[in-house]
Amino acid sequence: MGEVVVIRKMRPEDRRRIREICCQTGFGGESIEPIFDDPELFADLWSSYYTDFEPESAFVAEHIGEVVGYLLGCLDTRRYNRILFGRLAPRLLGRILTGRYHIGEKTRAYFRSLIAQLLRGEVVNPPLKEYPAHLHINIAAGCRRMGIGSLLMESYLAYLREKGVRGVHLGTSSLHTSALPFYEKLGFQLFGKKPTLFLGKKIDSIAYVKRL
Ligand SMILES: CC(C)(COP(=O)(O)OP(=O)(O)OC[C@H]1O[C@@H](n2cnc3c(N)ncnc32)[C@H](O)[C@@H]1OP(=O)(O)O)[C@@H](O)C(=O)NCCC(=O)NCCS
Repeated sequence: MGEVVVIRKMRPEDRRRIREICCQTGFGGESIEPIFDDPELFADLWSSYYTDFEPESAFVAEHIGEVVGYLLGCLDTRRYNRILFGRLAPRLLGRILTGRYHIGEKTRAYFRSLIAQLLRGEVVNPPLKEYPAHLHINIAAGCRRMGIGSLLMESYLAYLREKGVRGVHLGTSSLHTSALPFYEKLGFQLFGKKPTLFLGKKIDSIAYVKRL
């Protein structure tokens, strides 16, 4: 790899950079700018559980001293669901209703699409009994294909094994062209694939699993 890469647990001061990478990579590995109005809302939706409620399962990769990627983990998806519905969603809804976020047409279309996918049952959900843990991984655009994602994943899988977790799952889609071969290379198995419509585009919703 040539230059130094350090994999370590998240620290509180990494939160801002994690949220930035989340927004720079949140649309199939690209910036969310064309599809979402307010980066704060996007980061709250997709990263705040992990940074604020389970930071001990969050890993970052530093490349030459700068955080360039993360793996946000969760040991127990049932706990995630309880916190998501019991605490995070009400908090986000409160902020939305009191005008704390900029919600324009892009964001409305995004939510319409996401909710329609859920209502049509087009998201693949592996059984939590066998695969209780889950993860999100993203590497900044200039630092991909340097082995950083693999290092983050190795650290997370070792952590899960140490905690006695029996399996892990993740959700993705055919939009994430770099991620699919990556998960397969790392020994994840395709659990299911469902055709779906996202922002007017026909894609596949995909889930991978791995026993530990
Ligand atoms: C997917 C991602 C996390 C992989 O991390 P990475 O650091 O780039 O991956 P690595 O360098 O460790 O790659 C390991 C192996 O995965 C496979 N792989 C990774 N990226 C690939 C690509 N773009 N095309 C084909 N295979 C790829 C290769 O087999 C690679 O091994 P090799 O380079 O020796 O051939 C990263 O590319 C990324 O953040 N992509 C955009 C965001 C995203 O889609 N995140 C996942 C959301 S579900």
